[in-house]
Amino acid sequence: MSSRPLALNFSEANSSEIFAQRLPLSNDKPLPQVLAAVVTHLHQLIKELRPTPADWRNVIAFLTDVGHVSDERRQEWVLLSDLIGASALVEEINSRRPRGATPNTVRGPFFRADAPELPSGSNISLDGIGERLEVFGFVRDLDGHPIAGAEVITWQANAEGFYENQQPDLQPEFNLRGIFRTDEEGAFRYRTVKPSGYRVPDDGPVGKLLRQAGYPLCRPAHLHFIVKAPGFETITTHVYDAGDPHLGEDAIFGVKEALVREFKPLEGKGAPAWRLDFTFVMARARQGADT
Ligand code: BEZ
Ligand code: FE
Repeated sequence: MSSRPLALNFSEANSSEIFAQRLPLSNDKPLPQVLAAVVTHLHQLIKELRPTPADWRNVIAFLTDVGHVSDERRQEWVLLSDLIGASALVEEINSRRPRGATPNTVRGPFFRADAPELPSGSNISLDGIGERLEVFGFVRDLDGHPIAGAEVITWQANAEGFYENQQPDLQPEFNLRGIFRTDEEGAFRYRTVKPSGYRVPDDGPVGKLLRQAGYPLCRPAHLHFIVKAPGFETITTHVYDAGDPHLGEDAIFGVKEALVREFKPLEGKGAPAWRLDFTFVMARARQGADT
């Protein structure tokens, strides 16, 4: 048996122990522990999959490409996290809500923080292309009391399944985005167009990889919402169109029964038009929780 210290003999058998030995592991410093756990799992994966050096260079090239296509308009890292279920899992762990409260789902890569605040009843479809949809929303607490003054941020794809920031040359800036405030009854209302389901973008490295792997990339039709009110947990969620045939294969694991609603046809002559009613139920913020 060699009497050399373990740290000199990096091997397949001891790789993660050697890595951890060099860290100042202690209970009051989370970073070294997190790093040791990440590296242990990564080494385990490498031992299981046994990539060649060329395979590993491909992995690094893929991650480099993900970084290169990411900027303020396009967040390929968020897409990667969403499509492998990491974002949904983080939400599940962190946003367990009391029964009856509206569940969270992932925010996704197409959110913009700078959308305009609009008066109730505004039309957020700036190009008017698509079937009219009237949204009647309420924000309430778990006892059914209205929450006045809540901020409701919404964004959605157009009737062809594209977000305004995916088509800056084709859609008006801030098309299908807006921020509304609830009135004394906890109500907000706006006009828009019925969104279409879409495929997650597969023109970047993440979509290409998953497409090659045969992974379904569809997102059933939905509207996005973030609902904020002082003293309550912020809701980041989707409302899904019950009529979409792909509800069972959402690429990002966002569909929950409580978030699926029928878009009801509006009577009248002319082009089809729809109505959506949805009540967001907010849970009180837990002490010390990240709202
Ligand atoms: C979205 O709904 O906008 C979305 C979410 C995650 C990945 C891709 C798109
Ligand atoms: Fe979306």
